[in-house]
Amino acid sequence: MIVGGVDIGSTTAKAVVLRGDEIILGTILRVTTKPEHTANLAMEEALKKAGLSSVQELDYVVATGYGRQKTTFANENISEISCHARGAWHVCPSVRTIIDIGGQDCKSMSVTEKGTVAGFEMNDRCAAGTGRFFDVMAKVLTCGYDGISSLQNVSETPAHITSQCSVFAESEVISLVNNDVPLADIITGINLSVAGRAGGLLRRVGVKSDVVMTGGCSRNAGLIHALEKALGVPILMLPVDPQFMGAVGAAVFARDKATAAKAVPVATQPAKEASHGTV
Ligand SMILES: Nc1ncnc2c1ncn2[C@@H]1O[C@H](COP(=O)(O)OP(=O)(O)OP(=O)(O)O)[C@@H](O)[C@H]1O
Ligand SMILES: [Mg+2]
Repeated sequence: MIVGGVDIGSTTAKAVVLRGDEIILGTILRVTTKPEHTANLAMEEALKKAGLSSVQELDYVVATGYGRQKTTFANENISEISCHARGAWHVCPSVRTIIDIGGQDCKSMSVTEKGTVAGFEMNDRCAAGTGRFFDVMAKVLTCGYDGISSLQNVSETPAHITSQCSVFAESEVISLVNNDVPLADIITGINLSVAGRAGGLLRRVGVKSDVVMTGGCSRNAGLIHALEKALGVPILMLPVDPQFMGAVGAAVFARDKATAAKAVPVATQPAKEASHGTV
């Protein structure tokens, strides 16, 4: 059985092909103003890596993320919360708590031992505490993601970023730069500020080990370090790229759906499955 999962987030598009138990990751693409087009491109990349030429070769496709309703080739769409939880649990069954920090959202989830969502919390659609905040800060500090993420920039004397709003926090960081505060102190302060917000969301669902991080901000080692410090528990590294976890979960759901459909006796099956769109 070959199925697909696609996650069209606020910032990036990710697609995955699941062939049996093999997880084939596509490429992370920046979303454009045309989510349908981005979804097609993301799935094309994953199909290419799987040696497939068309989405028609997939038994079932599930879409998730902000652009999920625009993913015309998907048979179904499922929420990001469910998909991140399902994906993380699929690759790491010991997971009980997840923090997903993407480009625009920060979500915490608690997961049962069977991989279902027991509870979740989301940030209030504010850029602070999300990837957008880091994007702004990386520009202000002209250090890129690498500078923000580097463990070499973890300082014992972090700057205190007090603003809860990313616009004010940006001005605060500009002042710190102008006052010659060392870069490492500022970066550690930024990571601690996001970790503080994420930690608050995690505590609201209950922090139970194993704790993992999904989403693009999980590439930020400095943030993981700050979050471990804030929570007092280790953050486990997932064995599959955590930025793809929503797409992985979507693909696992797709496999469940395709398996269930195949189990239905032929006489009771609908005449024809909903057809896939282009890709
Ligand atoms: N190498 C990197 N180091 C640090 N952060 C990174 C790196 N690459 C990407 N990011 C962060 O990841 C974010 C994108 O994450 P992700 O792909 O999970 O977002 P998304 O799913 O589109 O967003 P959302 O779930 O909020 O809709 C970027 O905004 C950026 O801040
Ligand atoms: Mg996302």
